[in-house]
Amino acid sequence: MKIKVLVLGQLNEQLSKRLEKIAEIQCIHREEALPEDVLLEQLRDKDAVVSEPLDTISSAIMDACKNLRIIANRAVGFDNVEIPEATKRGIIVTNTPGVLDAATADLAMALLLSTTRRVCEADRYVRAGKWSGFKSDLMLGPDLDGKTMGIIGMGRIGKAFAKRAGAFGLKLIYSRSSSPDATDRKLASELGAKRVELDELLQNSDFISIHCPLNDETRGLIGQRELDLMKPECILINTARGAIIDEPALVSHLVNGKILGAGLDVFAHEPNVPEELLSLDNVVLLPHIGSACFETRFRMSELAVDSIISAFAGKRPPNIVNADAWDEQKWNAAAKERS
Ligand code: NAP
Ligand code: GLV
Repeated sequence: MKIKVLVLGQLNEQLSKRLEKIAEIQCIHREEALPEDVLLEQLRDKDAVVSEPLDTISSAIMDACKNLRIIANRAVGFDNVEIPEATKRGIIVTNTPGVLDAATADLAMALLLSTTRRVCEADRYVRAGKWSGFKSDLMLGPDLDGKTMGIIGMGRIGKAFAKRAGAFGLKLIYSRSSSPDATDRKLASELGAKRVELDELLQNSDFISIHCPLNDETRGLIGQRELDLMKPECILINTARGAIIDEPALVSHLVNGKILGAGLDVFAHEPNVPEELLSLDNVVLLPHIGSACFETRFRMSELAVDSIISAFAGKRPPNIVNADAWDEQKWNAAAKERS
């Protein structure tokens, strides 16, 4: 008997065919987040869902969808899913780690370069017909070479970003959450990156890039106090999650020129962007496109589809984020029953 899967967003033909071998698929191409009651109705009879950061999978949805066994989140971040609630109900949640590191690190570099070299502002200037010829003081920005880059969250994407930043001549300092270990020795020897406490990073960085997950510990990690510790010439890049920064405090620092600029791919209440930022030339705003490359997005979808296929074949998917929810015997028995 085939399982029922709800796919939120597009799924390419090759992957649809792969999933159709075990599933009846319903795809919803939505432009914006579905209201909770609509999502709940669509998901009510489904065994699995392919979700994205846009989709909040709440405990109310889990309660109503009694058949739901797996949430395959098509993203590495999984703050849109109430993980402890899923675990309590034996619903496994998978994500897409590793395959989007390069794409996301590239976009963070793009934000760094476009804020420091004022790329978007300069483009708007040319299009507006304001350019009257070469001027030695036109659109100046800070050099990167020899400056200090502070990386908050030295995980998969943080490391990929560090490699890129190092190649631009930046000195690297970083903060992590766990105790110093072999990773720190490796980072020191391979990239010359030095681990520091968060306050030291904030005070000494010319540029800061955020790459930690959003969770109870990191929500509001960069608040008023932390922004005050930054140098006035600091540029802040965020491709992680908007709510890691206290957004009103950041807006106030940017509006009042307390830091030099910001490159933001993510926001606290997407797709809402604080009104005050829209008129600021020292801010580059992107619509959450960190991993938006053809091959990367294919690999993310592939991981999500393979997680579902693997779980329903009774094999533990490698990328479960709530390992405690995996019950080998139960999944095996269910797989035998279906075959
Ligand atoms: P990861 O490999 O798990 O790395 C996260 C790192 O953050 C870990 O090294 C962890 O430290 C560190 N960390 C956790 N709490 C911290 C804290 N309070 N202070 C400093 N560091 C802390 O995750 P990833 O694959 O690199 O992804 C990171 C995040 O990027 C995702 O969770 C997602 O939200 C975001 N993302 C966004 C986009 C986009 O489209 N904009 C695309 C992909 C990912 P330890 O090493 O000490 O555990
Ligand atoms: C995208 O935001 C992701 O977490 O993969």
